[in-house]
Amino acid sequence: MKSFEWTARFVEYDTPEELPEEIHALMLRAEEAREKAYAPYSHFKVGAAVLLEDGVVVTGNNQENGAFPSGLCAERVALFAAGAEHPAVKAEALFITARAVDHDLSEPVAPCGACRQVMAETEQSQGHPMRVFFHGTTGRILEADSVEALLPFTFKFRDWE
Ligand code: THU
Repeated sequence: MKSFEWTARFVEYDTPEELPEEIHALMLRAEEAREKAYAPYSHFKVGAAVLLEDGVVVTGNNQENGAFPSGLCAERVALFAAGAEHPAVKAEALFITARAVDHDLSEPVAPCGACRQVMAETEQSQGHPMRVFFHGTTGRILEADSVEALLPFTFKFRDWE
C-alpha cells in the first residue's frame, strides 16, 4: 500500500485588468450572457463564454425550467452550442461569471460537477487543453490551465470500449 498526492496549479487575478486582453474581452461576453440568463427559480444568474481557436466566441447562460431537472447550466449551454455550431473548432478558453439577482458575488463561482464532466470531454475529444476562468461578479478571478485540474480521475467512455 502506498499513498500519493495529486496537485493542480491555479492562477489568481486580483482584478479583471490583470487578465490577458482576449480573456478580458471574453469576460465581457460572459457577463453580457449572464445578464440574459433565465433564472426565475434560483435567482442566480450564470454566464459562460467559450473562445474558439479561430477567435469566434460562443456564449451561454443558465436556462431554468419549472420541471426542475429540465434546466441547464450556463457552461453546458455554451459548450453544447459551440459543439453544435462549430464541431471541428477547438475551444481554447471558457470564462464563467455569476451574480445573485439581488447581490453581487465577491468570490469565484466554481463550475458544478456535471459541467466539469462536459468540459473534460471537450478537452479530451479535441486533444487540446482548455483554460477555464471562473469569477463571481466582483473580486478575484481564478484560472485553471486545463480541465484536468478541476476533475481528477475523469471518467472517459473510450477507456471502456
Ligand atoms: N448553475 C450554472 O449555470 N452553472 C454551474 O456551474 C452551477 C449552477 C446554475 C444552475 C441553476 O440555474 C442555478 O445556477 C442555481 O444552481
